[in-house]
Amino acid sequence: MATLHVNGRALQVPAEPDTPLLWVLRDELGLTGTKYGCGVAQCGSCTVHLDGQAVRSCVMPAAAVGDRQVTTIEGVAGKVARAVQEAWNRLDVVQCGYCQSGQIMSAVALLTEVPKPTDAQIDAAMTGNLCRCATYVRIRAAIHEAARAL
Ligand code: FES
Ligand code: FES
Repeated sequence: MATLHVNGRALQVPAEPDTPLLWVLRDELGLTGTKYGCGVAQCGSCTVHLDGQAVRSCVMPAAAVGDRQVTTIEGVAGKVARAVQEAWNRLDVVQCGYCQSGQIMSAVALLTEVPKPTDAQIDAAMTGNLCRCATYVRIRAAIHEAARAL
């Protein structure tokens, strides 16, 4: 058993040392908003926050999380997250939706660190989040919109 701090709660989870955080979140904790895409840190669909930083949970061993705070799409909150979610809705960003929890987690981490990102900063921060529906133009516009709202 290991203790993980997820969305503000300390939780005991059964996990082998090398079990990826993604599978603990999905299979043990039922937090299925975080998606499996590639399993090798190439698509971004599994993005969560560790102490506010965007990380790929598919390649993060649960045992390596330690005392850091894990935040998933189910628990992300605060004014930046609200602004991002409102902008996503206003600009109707989502198509099939599969990649979008990862996109939102990366966007929130970016805007927390860089309140008014340029196009180049957005592209650099979001480049690891793939979208098979090619919503990239709307994602970039929604990040600018959220930045304006903040
Ligand atoms: S599932 Fe983790 S980056 Fe693709
Ligand atoms: S909205 Fe379909 S994969 Fe991104």
